[in-house]
Amino acid sequence: MTLKVIAVNSSPNMENGNTDLILKPFLEGMRERGAKVELFYTKKLKIRPCQGEFHCAVKTPGECFQKDDMMMLYPKLVDADIWVFASPLYVSSINGPMKNLWDRIIIPMGEVHTVFRNGRSHHPMREGIKSGKVVLVSSCGYWEVDNFYMLVELTKEFGFHSEREYVGALLRPHAYALKPMLDSGNQADDVLEAARSAGHQLIEQGKMSLKTLNDVSRELVPLESYVSVVE
Ligand SMILES: Cc1cc2nc3c(=O)[nH]c(=O)nc-3n(C[C@H](O)[C@H](O)[C@H](O)COP(=O)(O)O)c2cc1C
Repeated sequence: MTLKVIAVNSSPNMENGNTDLILKPFLEGMRERGAKVELFYTKKLKIRPCQGEFHCAVKTPGECFQKDDMMMLYPKLVDADIWVFASPLYVSSINGPMKNLWDRIIIPMGEVHTVFRNGRSHHPMREGIKSGKVVLVSSCGYWEVDNFYMLVELTKEFGFHSEREYVGALLRPHAYALKPMLDSGNQADDVLEAARSAGHQLIEQGKMSLKTLNDVSRELVPLESYVSVVE
């Protein structure tokens, strides 16, 4: 069975950004193992913010009244086995376009009633929306990988509410060091190879090893050469 993957990158820098440097080999790795992968950039799409009127919950259940590019994305999301969300880290979180996308997914795709399951309130997903996996891809400016903590937790939360298994994150801290290193030789090719390998693993085994994910995030340059350390 061919696995279907939908990936959305919300970086305004799109193909020229740091996030795409990691996303591209990851998606390529999944394609190499037979997955059908589609990639979208929010900057090329019209995805308006949720208007909070609950039309999709009450008046037209399951259907948003805003007829923008979400109409094209909804059937692809419903059909995909794996959702890949790629966002640069903005103020320790996802960026605005990705938040718009998440809001536009969670409410129309969920039932209007709330259930209390395993100690948590939750809108179950509507009938016919299959379950699957969620992956996060991100890059950030600061040096430490810990800067992604909130974003990882948010993505787990999104996975819970969309009834999808959060299977891990490809995180690239001190991302400003990556492109110059790639341009000046092979010093960082292993990072892209690790991203590709994560793609292979996800399709072949349904999961990605912690070692491979750590290889994507590995130290590129020492802290002291990247920032001024102040006491
Ligand atoms: C508005 C804004 C907020 C940001 N906030 C953070 C932050 O909280 N932590 C961090 O490490 N980097 C932060 N950054 C830096 C970006 O995460 C970094 O440049 C990232 O690699 C950009 O990805 P892109 O090239 O794919 O757009 C911020 C950048 C912008 C423009």
